[in-house]
Amino acid sequence: MRTNYCGLIDSSYLDQEVHLFGWVHRRRDHGGVIFIDLRDREGIVQVVCDPDNKAAFTLADRARSEYVLRVAGRVRRRPEGTVNESLTSGEIEVLAGEIEILNASETPPFSIDEEEPSEMVRLENRVFDLRRPQMQENLRLRSRVSKFLRDYLDQKGFIDVETPFLYKSTPEGAREFLVPSRMHEGQFYALPQSPQLFKQMLMVAGFDRYYQVVKCFRDEDLRADRQPEFTQIDIETSFLDEFEIREIMEDMIRGCFKTTLKVDLPEVFPVMAYDEAIRLYGSDKPDLRIPLVFTDVTDLMKTEEFKVFRSAADLKGGRVVALRVPGGGEISRKQIDDYTNFVSIYGAKGLAYIKVNNLSVGIDGLQSPIIKFLSEKAVLEVMRLSGAEDGDIVFFGADKGFIVNDALGALRDKLGRDLGLMESNWKPLWVVDFPMFEYDEQSKQWNARHHPFTAPKDGHDEYIESNPDAAYSKAYDMVLNGWEIGGGSVRIHQPEVQEKVFRSLKISPEDQQAKFGFLLDSLKWGAPPHGGIAFGLDRIVTLMCGASSIRDVIAFPKTQRGQDLLTGAPSEVPDVQLRDLHIRLRGSGKGIPSKRESD
Ligand code: AMO
Ligand code: AMP
Repeated sequence: MRTNYCGLIDSSYLDQEVHLFGWVHRRRDHGGVIFIDLRDREGIVQVVCDPDNKAAFTLADRARSEYVLRVAGRVRRRPEGTVNESLTSGEIEVLAGEIEILNASETPPFSIDEEEPSEMVRLENRVFDLRRPQMQENLRLRSRVSKFLRDYLDQKGFIDVETPFLYKSTPEGAREFLVPSRMHEGQFYALPQSPQLFKQMLMVAGFDRYYQVVKCFRDEDLRADRQPEFTQIDIETSFLDEFEIREIMEDMIRGCFKTTLKVDLPEVFPVMAYDEAIRLYGSDKPDLRIPLVFTDVTDLMKTEEFKVFRSAADLKGGRVVALRVPGGGEISRKQIDDYTNFVSIYGAKGLAYIKVNNLSVGIDGLQSPIIKFLSEKAVLEVMRLSGAEDGDIVFFGADKGFIVNDALGALRDKLGRDLGLMESNWKPLWVVDFPMFEYDEQSKQWNARHHPFTAPKDGHDEYIESNPDAAYSKAYDMVLNGWEIGGGSVRIHQPEVQEKVFRSLKISPEDQQAKFGFLLDSLKWGAPPHGGIAFGLDRIVTLMCGASSIRDVIAFPKTQRGQDLLTGAPSEVPDVQLRDLHIRLRGSGKGIPSKRESD
C-alpha cells in the first residue's frame, strides 16, 4: 500500500517508514551511493541507495530514466548543504530499504526537464509530454475550473442535461462534421456545433435552468484559440433578462478565478457596446491591458487633398484612424518598416505616421513623410483629438473599415507587447449590443452575426426585414485579455419573430420547416422568454495557465491541420466499412457507386 505521494513528503515525516510508487526522474551514481529522484504526480523525492543494502542497490543500479519503481524506506534529514529549497521534499530524503522495478522504459523521446521540445515532437509523443510537470499542472487546473463551474451552477439550481452528439445538419455558422448513416442510405447526422437548439427546447420543456459541460464540433480553420472539438460550459435560463444573466455569469467567473487561481477580478466588469469597441479598438474583443485607443479621423480627412486618406474617407464603409503611441517617438525607421510589413498581412497598403518632436512650435515640430500632403489645420486637429504629446508617434490606417480595424487592431496588440505597455494582468469586459446581421459581399446576403435565434433589442423587431443594418440584438460576449471566452444572448421566443429573422436571412418557408421545424413548433407551445451563454472552457483555462495555445490545456488535441499525431486520426477506413455506409470515394474506385453514378 502506498503511504505517500513522493512530492508531498516533508520534514514532518522524519524517521517514518514510507512506501512510494513513481518514475525515475533522474539517477545519479555518486561513487558507490546511488541517488534516484523518484517522481509522481505531486513531485519529486530523493531516494538514497546505500551499497550495504545489496538487493536494493543492485536494482537501483539497473534502473534508468522513466523506469517505474516501488520503494520502501525511511525518511531522514538531508545532510547539511544539500537542502533543496525549491522542493517540498527538499529537506529530506528517503533511505531505500526495499526497491522493486515494476516496469522498464525505453529511452524517452526527450527529457522531462529539457527545454520544451517542438510541438510536433510533443504531440507525436503526447503521453510522454503529458508527464511534464507543466502539462500535469495545466490539466489539474482545468479539472479544478470545471469542478468549480459545475458546483457553482448546481448550487444555483442549474440542471445538467445531456444532449445528442448525433444531430441534424443545421446551418448555424461554421462548417459541420458529418457522420454517414448506415441504416439510412444517403443520409447523414451532423456533430453539433453547440447544443443551442436543444437547450432552448429544454427551456420550452420547463427545466428553467440548464447547464452542460459539453464537447462541440466545428470544422473550421484552426488557430491558437480554436480546435475542431472543444468544450463549452453551456448554460440557459428562463425568465431572466440579459442584465440578470450577465450578473450571474460575471459572479461565476469572478468566483472561479478567486477559487482556482486566487485572482481578484474587478467587482464590476466594464460593459461596452459593439460599435464603441470597433470605434476605439477596431475589435469586438479588445485587449484592455493595452492602453492604446484609435482616434477616428474619417470626417476630418473628407476635405483633405491627400488621396490615400481622402479616398478611404469617401469610401462607403471606409475609415481613417489615428493610433497614438505615447513614447513611440523612439521607434526607429527600421521598426516602422517592420510594422508596415506587419500590417500588410491584414491587407493594409501602407502605414503612415507622424513623429511628435516638439508640438510647441506647431507643425514644424512634427516629422512625417505625409505631412506635406495634409493641411496644417488637419494635422493639428489630429494631434489634438489623439492627445498626442512630445515624444509620441501617431500611426494611421486608411482603407475599407474592416481592413483598418484588422490591421491597426493587430498593430495595437503588437505595439502593446513590443513596447511593454501591458497594464495589469486581468482585464475582463462585456461587449454588448451586437448588430443582428452582417452583410456578406460575396453571397450578397445578410447573415446572422451570432446565430439566428438571437432576440432583437427592444424596438428593433421592425428593422429585421426592412433595414437589417439597423437591427441590434440582445447578444453579449465576455472578453478577457483580448480573447472571447464566452458568448450568448437572449433568444427569440415568439415564432413570428423567429420566422421574420429566417425570412430576412432568405431561408424559404419550406427550408425553415425542413431545417428548423422542430424549433418553430416548440416555440408555439408556450415558450418562455429565455436566454443563455456558452463559455469556452479551453480558452478560459489557457488564459489562466498563461499558455499560448489551447492545445496546452487539452490532453489529446489536434494540430493546426486537424490531425491527431498520436493516434493518427483522421485515417483511411477499409473498403467494407465504406460500403456499409453507402459511400464511394470520388476517383478512387473505393466503396460502392453512389446511386446517381450507377444510374
Ligand atoms: P459561440 O459560437 O460564441 O456561441 O461559442 C461560445 C464560446 O465557445 C468558445 N469557442 C471555441 N473554443 C475553442 N475552439 C473553437 N473552435 C471555439 N469556438 C467557440 C468561445 C466562445 O465564446 N450556442 C452559442 C452560445 C449561446 O448563444 O448560448 C455558441 O456556441 O470561447
Ligand atoms: P504613398 O503615397 O503610397 O507613398 O504613401 C505615403 C505614406 O502613406 C507612406 O508612409 C505609406 O506607408 C502611407 N500609406 C499608404 N497607404 C496607406 C493606407 N492605406 N493607410 C495608411 N497609410 C498608408
